[in-house]
Amino acid sequence: MKQEKGTKRIIIAIDGPAASGKSTTARRVAQQLGYIYIDTGAMYRSVTLKVLQLGLLDHLRRSPESVSDVIKDISIRFEGDRVFLNDSDVTAEIRDNRVSREVSFISSLKHVRDRLREMQQEFGRQRGVVMDGRDIGTVVFPDAELKIFLVADSRERAKRRYAELIAKCPDGGELPDLDVLEDEIIKRDRADAEREHAPLTKHVDAFEIDTSDLTIDRQVDIVYNLALDLQKDCR
Ligand code: CDP
Repeated sequence: MKQEKGTKRIIIAIDGPAASGKSTTARRVAQQLGYIYIDTGAMYRSVTLKVLQLGLLDHLRRSPESVSDVIKDISIRFEGDRVFLNDSDVTAEIRDNRVSREVSFISSLKHVRDRLREMQQEFGRQRGVVMDGRDIGTVVFPDAELKIFLVADSRERAKRRYAELIAKCPDGGELPDLDVLEDEIIKRDRADAEREHAPLTKHVDAFEIDTSDLTIDRQVDIVYNLALDLQKDCR
């Protein structure tokens, strides 16, 4: 959709726990508004993948400051739906379960957060961006014109993750149990909400939307219409 003449490009921050529908909503709202979409979870996942590739996880648990060596030369860019880490396409690998299991630890490290926050603020410098994550409305863009906080029941979120895994692996090989998946999601949410730096929390100005019983079309519509109103207000 084309940008309407005379409207201002805004920043839309979408935060919330795992599998609450952030990325699908953010991607579609960005498409409809002609904005760019930045998946900040993919950035934390990329750093985690790099740490795993270098075999440094145990070392970092003992000496978290040394993560600065890993991130000093890191480059992350988005091309449409693809994510590139230092020029290699890591779109599929960053969704591996071993990355999902370790990402909360890596994203709790201050050096990592400081570096990625700088990159994220640079991505949003021109505004006209939809960014999703855990701390976008609270820390990265506290001045975002539209802040959304998506939530959903943990069982429903586990079912969504399960459906994604089936779609990725239709022969059913290596599918985790639904209870295990729900447990992993709850543990990751807790780690994200209880960490010291930029914990997952709702900004006081954020609109909270419970997506448990909403279709994707409906949740996209709600956010899109809020954005249209704000674009007009910001003229
Ligand atoms: O897709 P899903 O909701 O499962 O997670 P994600 O958005 O890919 O984010 C993966 C992890 O990265 C989260 O569980 C957080 O630990 C971390 N993260 C963060 O700390 N801050 C952000 N802005 C985005 C993600």
